[in-house]
Amino acid sequence: MVFTSRKMKQVALSIICIILVLGFYKTLVNPEDEQSFSRVHVRERKSNLGETNEILANDDKIQEVDEDARYNDIKDIEEANMRIRELEDKLQHLESKIENRGSKDFPTVKFLNYKNRKRILVTGGAGFVGSHLVDRLMLGGHEVIVVDNFFTGRKRNVEHWVGHENFELVHHDIVRPLYLEVDEIYHLASPASPPHYMLNPVKTIKTNTLGTINILGLAKRVGARVLIASTSEVYGDPNEHPQSETYWGHVNPIGPRACYDEGKRVAETLSYAYMRQEGISVRVARIFNTFGPRMHMNDGRVVSNFILQALQNDSITIYGSGKQTRSFQYVSDLVDGLVALMASNYTQPINIGNPVEHTIEEFAVIIKDLVGTKSKVVELAAVEDDPQRRRPDISRAKKYLNWEPKVPLAEGLKQTIMYFARELQRTKHSQKSSLKQSSYKNNHDIVEQL
Ligand SMILES: NC(=O)c1ccc[n+]([C@@H]2O[C@H](COP(=O)([O-])OP(=O)(O)OC[C@H]3O[C@@H](n4cnc5c(N)ncnc54)[C@H](O)[C@@H]3O)[C@@H](O)[C@H]2O)c1
Repeated sequence: MVFTSRKMKQVALSIICIILVLGFYKTLVNPEDEQSFSRVHVRERKSNLGETNEILANDDKIQEVDEDARYNDIKDIEEANMRIRELEDKLQHLESKIENRGSKDFPTVKFLNYKNRKRILVTGGAGFVGSHLVDRLMLGGHEVIVVDNFFTGRKRNVEHWVGHENFELVHHDIVRPLYLEVDEIYHLASPASPPHYMLNPVKTIKTNTLGTINILGLAKRVGARVLIASTSEVYGDPNEHPQSETYWGHVNPIGPRACYDEGKRVAETLSYAYMRQEGISVRVARIFNTFGPRMHMNDGRVVSNFILQALQNDSITIYGSGKQTRSFQYVSDLVDGLVALMASNYTQPINIGNPVEHTIEEFAVIIKDLVGTKSKVVELAAVEDDPQRRRPDISRAKKYLNWEPKVPLAEGLKQTIMYFARELQRTKHSQKSSLKQSSYKNNHDIVEQL
């Protein structure tokens, strides 16, 4: 028998295959060896089990602590989310309230095209005269910026315009410079009644001097026309009757009223200095006593004193003999005059007042009768530097502005008495409700109840 090398290779390969098949068969039919291996392994593992259990118990404890902490974290996050949702709801509620406020009904204003619409600054626009002027300018379709430090003015006087697209209210003291873009400026900022301007005489002088410089400076920068609200007080206790604009006055420069009288005289001087030196377009209104709704109830002046005393059935007090005279114009007449002066080409000072003169005594009786009170009229000692006569010569205003007052005294007084009566009611009402209202504990509560 001859074995070729090829045959020998075939035999060797067959033997290897048989060995492999037998090995595989053995493990299938007899898995003892495998099990014995597992048993050894299990034994080893069992021996380690005690240790492992301990580790596991510790692990469990750690896991429990971790889970508690995680649970607490989740609870905190949920609570925070809930609080955020609550705050978001409140915010939304407040936003919708504010939006609703914004959509309040404004008085209907005239439409002016871009060419005719002016941007007008009114300093002291939250005061008595200023707020009426603002009404006129707004109704006329202009854009109005009120600058006021609210010393004697009130937001309430202009609140009916707050939120209107043509209106802006700026809290600012004119003793500091201000930067605005405007076409016209009515410069009215200054306390006007003796108790107010005498309260802080230095501030009164600063307002009328530094404040006026700031306003004239602004006018120079932006090329705006300025109207200065001067006063009949520049005539002091006059020796000339009626007072015409050519009269230089009779002023005590060191008396208690000097802060106002001299302050206004300097304001006029400054205006003409700026006009000559800087070419600014200036208008000067010398305003005489004015009355009407929104005037200060406690400004210590004749009209307000007498109306308040009459409405409250108190004695009507006259300082001095009562023979001193005053002439009073109604506020709408003054506003007509100011607007006409601003629009005119007349640059010299001009008196705006009512030339109809009455003694203080007469005023007391007229007001007493209109209110229908039982108040008595009583005389007290005269006050220092109280002018004896004051009556404007308005021939300039008639000639150059075609202006003269229209509202009869009794008509104006009726409107003013009605306003004062409402204000007194309001004061009584708010005093009552402030006594009742103990629910506002802090600022936060006020915001909550908006
Ligand atoms: N009412 C009159 O009978 C009368 C008479 C003559 C002249 N005037 C002049 O008319 C103007 C207005 O008088 P009124 O009766 O409306 O007085 P008012 O006190 O009611 O108004 C003056 C306004 O100017 C504001 N003001 C005062 N100092 C200010 C400052 N430093 N910065 C910003 N704002 C300031 C006040 O808060 C107030 O709103 C005044 O300049 C006054 O001198 C008024």
